[in-house]
Amino acid sequence: MTDFVSLPFYDLFHENGHVPGIREKLPSLLTGVRRSILEIGAGSGLITTSIADWTPAEIFALEPSAGMRGMLLSRLNARPELLKRVTVLPCDALGVDLDEPVEAMVLINVLYALDPEYRRRLWPVLATQLEPDGLLVFTWRDGGPPAPGPLEELESCQVGRHTYTVLSEITESDGERCEARYVYRVTENDKVISEEEISGYAYRPVRDVIEAELAGAGFVRADAPDGLLAWRLGLQQF
Ligand SMILES: C[S@@+](CC[C@H](N)C(=O)[O-])C[C@H]1O[C@@H](n2cnc3c(N)ncnc32)[C@H](O)[C@@H]1O
Repeated sequence: MTDFVSLPFYDLFHENGHVPGIREKLPSLLTGVRRSILEIGAGSGLITTSIADWTPAEIFALEPSAGMRGMLLSRLNARPELLKRVTVLPCDALGVDLDEPVEAMVLINVLYALDPEYRRRLWPVLATQLEPDGLLVFTWRDGGPPAPGPLEELESCQVGRHTYTVLSEITESDGERCEARYVYRVTENDKVISEEEISGYAYRPVRDVIEAELAGAGFVRADAPDGLLAWRLGLQQF
């Protein structure tokens, strides 16, 4: 779950990070979705409001981190027309329990946060929340976790007189899991105003693993642009 240390940095670095690519690739996959979408790990809502612009669907934006939810609700509040159409769910993905199955589910940059046991339990739960032939889309990077490497600057951003910088290093890598250390630094000229760090695990399963898990839960692979995987819930189980 997202740590409070990283929250002030989130939009500064992600609006121009993964978001432009997702905004280019996701709309075509959602063509035809008109009734309902579940977005799992909606974060600060960078993708949520875009989904609302692309489709007329009702949106369920699930986000377990209270800090992220606060940012998401502020973003929605700045778009009052969306307040009737987007419901913010405060649970984690395994706790999802909708009144009716949705037409589509989207996880953008969330899979990496789910450990293998959690992930294997998740697919069958999602299958119960998706309508027959419904769409499941998530971001995907193949090839397993990155190898350990030194602390490097990822990006920095000027805000008034201050510079916000994020650095990271991979401290350990084993199987599908790696441990990353992140340093969040604010400076003015060369003076460090604040510096905090967090470490956490990330998971990068290889394609065969994810395909076997999803097929086992009744999903059938569909076409998707590079960087995304799409699945449809097989009709045979209904
Ligand atoms: C990197 S952020 C991505 C946020 C948003 N999807 C975006 O693209 O900007 C990952 C999000 O996944 C959420 N998350 C982590 N574990 C989760 C879980 N078990 N269930 C649902 N969301 C989770 C985190 O709280 C965080 O907001």
